[in-house]
This record gives sequence, C-alpha cells and structure tokens, in this order.
Amino acid sequence: MIEMVVYIIVVVLVMVWCYIKWQNRHFEKLAAKMQGPTAYPIIGTGYTFFDSSEQVTSKIIDLVKEYNLLPIKLWLGPYFAVTICKPEDLQLPWGILFLETTMGYNLDTQSNKKDREFGEAIVIKKKKDEFDQRKKAISAKVDLTGNKDENQSKIFLDMLFELNNNVGNFSDSDIRDEVVTMMIAGSETSAITICFCHLMLAIDQDIQDKVYNEIYDIFGDSDETITMEDTTRLVYLEQVLKEILRMYPAAPLLLREIQGDLKIFSNNYILPKGTTCVIPILATHYSPDLYPNPWSFNPENFSPENIAKRHKYSFIAFSGGPRGCIGSKYAMFSMKVTVSTFLRHFSVHTDIKLADIKLKIDLLMRSVHGYPVTIRPRMRTPIK
Ligand code: HEM
Repeated sequence: MIEMVVYIIVVVLVMVWCYIKWQNRHFEKLAAKMQGPTAYPIIGTGYTFFDSSEQVTSKIIDLVKEYNLLPIKLWLGPYFAVTICKPEDLQLPWGILFLETTMGYNLDTQSNKKDREFGEAIVIKKKKDEFDQRKKAISAKVDLTGNKDENQSKIFLDMLFELNNNVGNFSDSDIRDEVVTMMIAGSETSAITICFCHLMLAIDQDIQDKVYNEIYDIFGDSDETITMEDTTRLVYLEQVLKEILRMYPAAPLLLREIQGDLKIFSNNYILPKGTTCVIPILATHYSPDLYPNPWSFNPENFSPENIAKRHKYSFIAFSGGPRGCIGSKYAMFSMKVTVSTFLRHFSVHTDIKLADIKLKIDLLMRSVHGYPVTIRPRMRTPIK
C-alpha cells in the first residue's frame, strides 16, 4: 500500500515537473542564452536577494553593475524574470506591458483582517453619509442662489462616491483600495522625498545656501504666500529635488509583465510573452555612464545642458510611458511649495554624512535611521 502511495506521488511530481518544463520552454530557451546568477532547483536565483531589507538595495545595484546594466535572467522558483536597466530598453512600447504596480496596495496581507474590515466598513459608511449630507447642502445652496458652480472643488472621496453613484459599482474594498493607493502613491512618496531633501541639504550646506539664495531672490524677507508662478522660478530647487529623486527614488523597483513577445535593444533578445520585467530604478540612476560620480549629491546633474545630453529614460523616478506616475507634476509643485516655505523661515543642520545613510525597502524606499536634522530659525538675509 505504502509503495503504491509513493509511486503515485512520484508520478504526480514527475508530471508536474514536465508540465512546468513545457510551460516554461520559451523562457528556458531564452535563459540558456542570457547571462545571470546561477539558478538552483526550486529556489532559482532567489538566494541572491536573501538578506536584510537594508542590504537588498546595494545587492540589486551590485548585481546589475556586475553585468554592466545588461538584461539578466532571474528565476524565482518556476517564475522567469528579466532585469531592464538601460534607458534604450526602458523605452520599449509600454502599451504591450501589463502593470503589476508596486503602488497598488492590498491590505489583506495584514493581520486582524476581520476586525479591520469591520472598522473600515463603518468608516466608509460614515464617509458615504457625510458625502450625501454635503451633496444635499450643496444643492440646497444651489437652489437658493440659482448659481450652480460646476467647478466647485471636490475632495477625492466625494469624486469617488459620485463616480460610484453614476457609473461604477465599487465595493467598499474597491473604495478602500483606491483611497489607500492614492494615499501611498500621492503622499508617502512626496513625504519621503521631502525628508531626504532636508537631510541632504543639511549635509551639504553650500547647496542649501544656493537654494536659499534663490528663494530669497524671489520672496526677499516678505511673508507673501507662494504662488504658482513663483514655483516656476524655483529652478535650482527643482534640480535639487530631481537629484534627490535620482539618488532616493521613493518607489525603487517597478514590475511589468509582457503581454506579447517583445524585442529589446540590448543583445537583440526577444522576451517571450509572460516574462516579468524587473526595473530596478536605482541601478539606472546609479549608472556611471549616465551620471558621473553617481554616489555624490550633485544637482548639476539636472542642469538643462546635462539633461539634454542624456536619454529621456535615464531618469525614471516617476516611471514613464502611459502607466507612469499621474501625479508627477503635482508632486514637483507640492514639494517645491513645502521645501521653499520651510527654508524661507528655517535652516537645517546635521552631524551625519552621506555615507551614513542606509536604505531599506518595504513598500517604498526609506532611510533606515530616519532623517536626523536640527532645525534653526533663519536670519532672512541673502547668504554671501
Ligand atoms: C515624489 C513623489 C512621487 C513619486 C516618486 C512617484 C512615483 C511613481 C512611480 C514610480 C509610479 C509607477 C509605479 C509602477 O509602475 O509600479 C507611480 C504611479 C502612480 N502615482 Fe506616483 N509618484 C509620486 C507622487 C504622486 C502623487 C503626488 C500622486 C497623486 C496625486 C501620484 C499618483 C500615482 C498613481 C495613481 C500611480 C499609478 C498610475 C497607474 O497605475 O497608471 N504619485 N508613481
């Protein structure tokens, strides 16, 4: 009897193995031609990344550098993936790529699911009731004055509820996922970049002085609120923010699944349908071919002349193509407003050095030891 069971298990395992081999035949054919770390049965090349989240960032950069930024094959168990780092390859027809977004956030992986869902259902119901009341108040106002203002600004949740009432049929969890995605994609990313910006300005006082002088040229010592037009004049601050996003892209890893065979420029490989493309933004941003001395903080990397010299996809902190960040312009605008308003009144200082900054990736990329800066009120005079 036991012999029979063992026999059946062996036969089933062999059949599964054959099925996986058959399914992966196109990937295996390509993998045989490609460079990359050695793959072992079951774990594939996954062992390359077994480490603390602090080490993963440097491991990714080192691995890709070792292969000169060319595509490398990765096997995560039976799943095949290829890294894409070269700007020419990043300019692929993104239309045939399916987004497995790192920005999409699924709360189901967290604990206390039932309690949480119950709490969320109450919150969503409360927000829906508030929305209905606001809507009634607005139409009452409209009826009284007869002056219907279509452009009255709406908060994001109201727009979502309105869309739901008119065309959609979103469940509470759909609404929750949209809100969480917007919160993470829209506020955490900018918040992290602003934190890195203050830390880096604290480390490099000369650059901070240059940023402050630009701010002073625009506002002097007035307390006038910043306008949209003022933000367009904060040219050097924009360079600084882009350099921060180069060195510390809040979303450092992008994933795409190919929906049809796709030829990439490097080595003329044809990636079969179903290949997962791993885009380690950090590896592109730290390539010495694109940015001389990539480990140093140099806002001149984003002077108009230097931008013109580089491929458009050398800077991909906001991703690119049709599924790139929809909030990139707003993000730059809001970060300029926040940093310039802060620096008008305060200066930042720190004891730590650039080399002390250690990075970790959870959903987004952050500094392991936080952003330790001392804030001092500023003498509002230009710095010589
Ligand atoms: C410094 C700030 C920001 C950075 C670095 C950033 C970066 C990115 C990146 C890299 C992606 C592509 C993700 C992927 O392909 O997996 C993305 C997508 C997205 N971003 Fe941003 N983002 C920022 C700010 C914002 C803001 C302010 C908003 C909204 C107001 C926003 C909304 C979104 C949304 C909704 C998506 C998904 C787009 C889609 O699925 O087509 N982001 N962002």
